[in-house]
Order: sequence, then structure tokens, then C-alpha cells
Amino acid sequence: MSCTTLTAISRSIDSFPALPSTASKVLKVTNDPESSARDMMEAILPDQAMCVAILKVANSAFFGQPREVSSLEKAVMVLGFNEIQSIVLGKAVFDIFRHISGFKEDMDRFWNHSFNCGLTAKVIAQSLYLPQGSFFIGGLIHDIGKLALFMTFPNDYPPPLWLATFPTPLMEKNERMVFALNHEQVAGRLLKRWFFPSPLIQAIEFHHAPEMSPGITAHALILSVADSMTYFRTCASSMDAATIDQYMAKIYPDLQSIWLSAGLPWMDDMLHNWHEQVNREHHTNGILMNLFSS
Ligand SMILES: [Fe+2]
Ligand SMILES: [Fe+2]
Repeated sequence: MSCTTLTAISRSIDSFPALPSTASKVLKVTNDPESSARDMMEAILPDQAMCVAILKVANSAFFGQPREVSSLEKAVMVLGFNEIQSIVLGKAVFDIFRHISGFKEDMDRFWNHSFNCGLTAKVIAQSLYLPQGSFFIGGLIHDIGKLALFMTFPNDYPPPLWLATFPTPLMEKNERMVFALNHEQVAGRLLKRWFFPSPLIQAIEFHHAPEMSPGITAHALILSVADSMTYFRTCASSMDAATIDQYMAKIYPDLQSIWLSAGLPWMDDMLHNWHEQVNREHHTNGILMNLFSS
């Protein structure tokens, strides 16, 4: 690690554009306990593209609403502030990063991994009665630190090696040694600069070491499990494991005890069930990725 590397990445983080005004206004509304549904609507209504995106997501298979959500007002009532905030923040971050040019194949793999991780985190959250949208967005943006590192050091952070591979402990160490910060720390700094909610920042900052998370470990742990499960689903040669349980046992030999100590309920067939559920939902929710990118 060198001072100049740390300075370069710090400067790069500072030079990222501010969040679009709609996202900043929505953050203010959700942070203020006195805010009303009207305040939320006033924050979003001037941004027609965001209104359209929210309505499309609210009516997609993702939220599975029994009746059509026909207006922004209804979307705010039905989904609540936190899920609306998640959609707005997710789209804002996705829009900032999606225009990186070149390396199309690696970028496609990167976003495919991110989307699948988001979907897996959402399925896990749903089964635990946690906010689905927030976990989906956590998964969608969990590796944005890699994109920030690539944008800062385009010649030293080769996309085929870093962007869409599961970092081994050695790669994690190398990332920190060569670039001063690993991709989780870079993402954390960037999200802090954008005033993202702290549980989301912490989950992303510790998605490769949830047991080190200083606050609630459950969020980071769910993201971490979703990340690993995604590699099993999308990389055929995942450590010669035939089933998701075998694979996760290699990655997380003591998952059950970490899971329980994070205050989460353990069920013997949960990994298998989540894996099957993601396979079922993958096709119906594939459209969600298009909604974010439209
Ligand atoms: Fe990661
Ligand atoms: Fe990842």
C-alpha cells in the first residue's frame, strides 16, 4: 500500500457525482420521522422518469401486488417509505455506474452477478420477513467498490480478473495491499459520501466478513450468503460441489453458528429452498433489470 494510492482512491471517491436531487430529497424525507406520504410524493413527483420506474417496479412480479398500483400515491401507501427509498437509491446508483464504456462482456457479467445477488438477498429477506427491496438493492450495489477501483486504476484493476470473480482470501488481501482499500471499503466510503442509510452501508462494507461487522451482523451475513449462493448458481465449476449445501459448507463451515449468533432462525433446508426459489423467480424478475436500465 502507498500513500499515493490511498490519495488517488480518496480523490476519486470525492470526484464522483453527487446523488441526483430526487434521491437526496427521498433520503431527507425517510430520515425525518415527521415526514408524511405527501412529503415523499413531493420529493419524487418532479422526476417523471423516477415515477415511471417506481410504478413499473411496484407492478412487477418482484413485489407481487394483488392489485395494480396505478399512481405514485398508491405506491407510497402500499410499499412504504423504506421500499420506495430502496428503489430510488438503487436506480440512482445504477444510473451513475452503468455508463462505463468498454469491457462489455465483463461489465455484463458484473451486473448479471449483482442482479442475481440482489434477487437472492431478496428471496432470503422475504423468507425472514425483512424488507425485500432494501436487500435487493444491497445485492445490486454490493460490489460497486470494484467499479470505483476500476475507474480509478483502469490499467491495474483488470476487469476479467476482478469484476466478476469471487474474491478468495488471497485476492482480498491483494486488493488491499495494491489499492490501499478493498472493494467493500471503497463502496462504504462512497455510500457514506452519499449519506446512504447506515445499515445498508455496513452490510455492504462487511459482505466478505460479516462476523467483523461492528453493528447488526444479520444484514451483512445475508448479503454474504446471497453473494456466495450467486456464485454457485452462476459459475458451473463452483468448487466441485454438487449441491448448494455442499458448496456453502465449503465456503462457510460454521454457517449455522454464525447465523444463529446473528439472531437469525436456522432451518435445515433453507439454503436448498432459497436456491430453488431464486431459480423459479429468476425468469419472472429478469424484467426488473430492464426496468432499472430503462
Ligand atoms: Fe464483493
Ligand atoms: Fe459479489
